[in-house]
Amino acid sequence: MRMWGGRFSGETDALVAEATRSVEVDRLLALDDLDGSIAHVRGLARAGLVTADESAALVEGLRALRDEVERGTLDWDPALEDVHLNLEAALTARLGPLAGKLHTGRSRNDQVALDLRLWLRRTVRELDGDLLDLERVLVERAERDGDAIMPGMTHVQPAQPVLLGHHLLAYVEMLERDRGRLADCARRADRSPLGAGALAGAGFALDREATAADLGFAGVTANSLDAVSDRDFAVEFLAAAALAMVHLSRLSEELVWWSNPAFGWVALSDAHATGSSMMPNKKNPDPCELIRGRAAKVSGDLATMLGVLKGLPLAYQRDLQEDKPPLFDAAAVLSSSLRVMAAVLAGLAFRPDRMRSAALEGFVTATSVADLLVERGLPFRVAHHVAGRLVAEAERRGRRLDQLDDPAFQAALAFEDGPEAARLAVAVPDGLGEDLRLAATLEAAVARPRVTGGTAPERVHEALAAARERLGDRRPEA
Ligand code: ARG
Repeated sequence: MRMWGGRFSGETDALVAEATRSVEVDRLLALDDLDGSIAHVRGLARAGLVTADESAALVEGLRALRDEVERGTLDWDPALEDVHLNLEAALTARLGPLAGKLHTGRSRNDQVALDLRLWLRRTVRELDGDLLDLERVLVERAERDGDAIMPGMTHVQPAQPVLLGHHLLAYVEMLERDRGRLADCARRADRSPLGAGALAGAGFALDREATAADLGFAGVTANSLDAVSDRDFAVEFLAAAALAMVHLSRLSEELVWWSNPAFGWVALSDAHATGSSMMPNKKNPDPCELIRGRAAKVSGDLATMLGVLKGLPLAYQRDLQEDKPPLFDAAAVLSSSLRVMAAVLAGLAFRPDRMRSAALEGFVTATSVADLLVERGLPFRVAHHVAGRLVAEAERRGRRLDQLDDPAFQAALAFEDGPEAARLAVAVPDGLGEDLRLAATLEAAVARPRVTGGTAPERVHEALAAARERLGDRRPEA
């Protein structure tokens, strides 16, 4: 069915109509579309293009449609192509020919660009709330269980002991950056494209700034061609969403490993794990795995959007209709993943005993031992060599570094392959063995990195207090 047709003599081919329509997807923009239309009608009235009575009737009709959309009672007609034509047809059914004035000085090109920016604004606000909720859970868990010592890893090999709280707060940092990226994207999208018309600008003296202010925008777009073709904000949103999903995926990956009984560092709540159709013993971390898998979808959404845009000349091209599936998918996947991750983390049982026994393996305190030797005057490279010899000796004896005796330390220090070492071998003071054994304990090793951002308990407690303060009663950013 054609909404306008002076130029056409036949109906659209059914196959083409089916292939080009978008209403099943873009009806998600219905409320944004109606809000934009209401502001546009007010603008038409200000410009004298509709009378005060006409404006009132149009606004009332649009508001009634808003109610219908909210109640879910509006009839969507796939034959009407997209959300814009459906709503215009519904308004026409209510108001008759007066509805035909609504589209004065407007094209679907600036209309859909407006709708998307309104959608983006409210979606970023919602996602910001989801991100904050997850940050809160991470901080709560760090407060409750964060003093547990675990083996920090690089190359997935035991490296240095860290506090669980330090590990959890690393994700808070990532999520804060995600919030910043989304807010940044929303800030740049905060310009109304309405009035750009199809591409050249509306042919009426519309006060674009007033309408933009009416819709809560900070200003208007400066170039009509750009306004109808620009989807940079979609790319920025998708990039931010894809990266946030990468963060959640990395956390998921860790929880998958940590919940393996060989680690046993965490136990998922029964409510957040699934069984096997065949193996009665299984308890699987499916929610984490699905978050990890869906991160691929969202980075695919970003790739889709970039691909859609790269070959497009100015101005509007119908290819742009393909912006909505990736945007809506990314927003839905990110929001659900954030909520699921918050629930999983809140329900997690941490096992500090298992973390500790893992930390007692792998000689993760060797750096602390080397650092102490540096404090006693050795060049770091020599200290590294000595601590390495101690690790080899401990491994040979089946002991931990803090279980080595004085002769073992003496032997490690008295190697012959360097002048510094030889000098040192003479200078070994009494009591060094005791100090080295102490430096080799988990508590001493974890307390050593006292630099800003380090894992020493006092630093982690400060970071936690700062995060708590930041989160306090912070509301999602508008
Ligand atoms: N459904 C279209 C979209 O999402 C609306 C704009 C259509 N404009 C046009 N000139 N065909 O992009």
